[in-house]
Amino acid sequence: MIDRDKKPIGIFDSGLGGLTVLREIIKSLPNEDFIYFGDSKRAPYGTKSRETITNFAFQDVRFLLNKGVKALVVACNTISSNSIDEIRNNFEVPVIEVIGPGSRTGVSTTNNGKVAVIGTEATVVSNAYVKKIHEINNDIKVFQKSCPLFVPIAEEGQHLWDSEITLLAARMYLDEMLETGADVLILGCTHYPLLKKAISRVLGNKMKIVDSAKSTAAELASIFSDEDAKNKEKGKISIFTSDSREKFLPMSKAILGNEDFTVEQVNIEKY
Ligand code: DGL
Repeated sequence: MIDRDKKPIGIFDSGLGGLTVLREIIKSLPNEDFIYFGDSKRAPYGTKSRETITNFAFQDVRFLLNKGVKALVVACNTISSNSIDEIRNNFEVPVIEVIGPGSRTGVSTTNNGKVAVIGTEATVVSNAYVKKIHEINNDIKVFQKSCPLFVPIAEEGQHLWDSEITLLAARMYLDEMLETGADVLILGCTHYPLLKKAISRVLGNKMKIVDSAKSTAAELASIFSDEDAKNKEKGKISIFTSDSREKFLPMSKAILGNEDFTVEQVNIEKY
């Protein structure tokens, strides 16, 4: 167990997708301070090589450690599936990732033993979900598909999240997943929950949608002791982006709703 102290928890992603994880974490740990970093300038990560993903992730981690964080949440499936061992081997801080929690939720949700996973190219190629799901239950059939247009659509702005373009892209990617007979679809990318309405319109009631946000939040809460939490004030949320603050701010508001937070731009290449 880690004691609660005044140090913040660091959360990061290639862009704004990880805010869907932060949204759930705040509900479980409302009194903690959070520092979020979204690397919008260099997103998407999911089309890049493992080496580039790891190099970017190391800079993201160094920035957060520089801010004095006591734990890290890798709110990105692409980094979790490609660079998690390197991060754990090179930095001495507790690290929570998202593939394990997402896989466990997927396995506990399926009724017919067939699970579909969508994610970035780099996540799909790594087979991280297939391996993790089979560690939990080797009899589960796993179907995977990468959906490269989803991240740029999500990063472009909230006007596109439930648009006709997103619906078209969702049809193009998901019709094939519907044919697999899987009854669960894991959103294996933290950007995808932003497009959930369009995705649901394509799936109808044929598949249950799961993502790793809630289970990742529960895992993080389980490593922090609850002592004094109730007596503390509401925590502070500081958001940093490597690209335009003006663009990141309204999208952060769209995701975090009424939460109070600040948004600043940072030169990530310095780290
Ligand atoms: N949101 C990230 C993920 O969960 C990365 C998306 C990207 O930058 O390609 O995979």
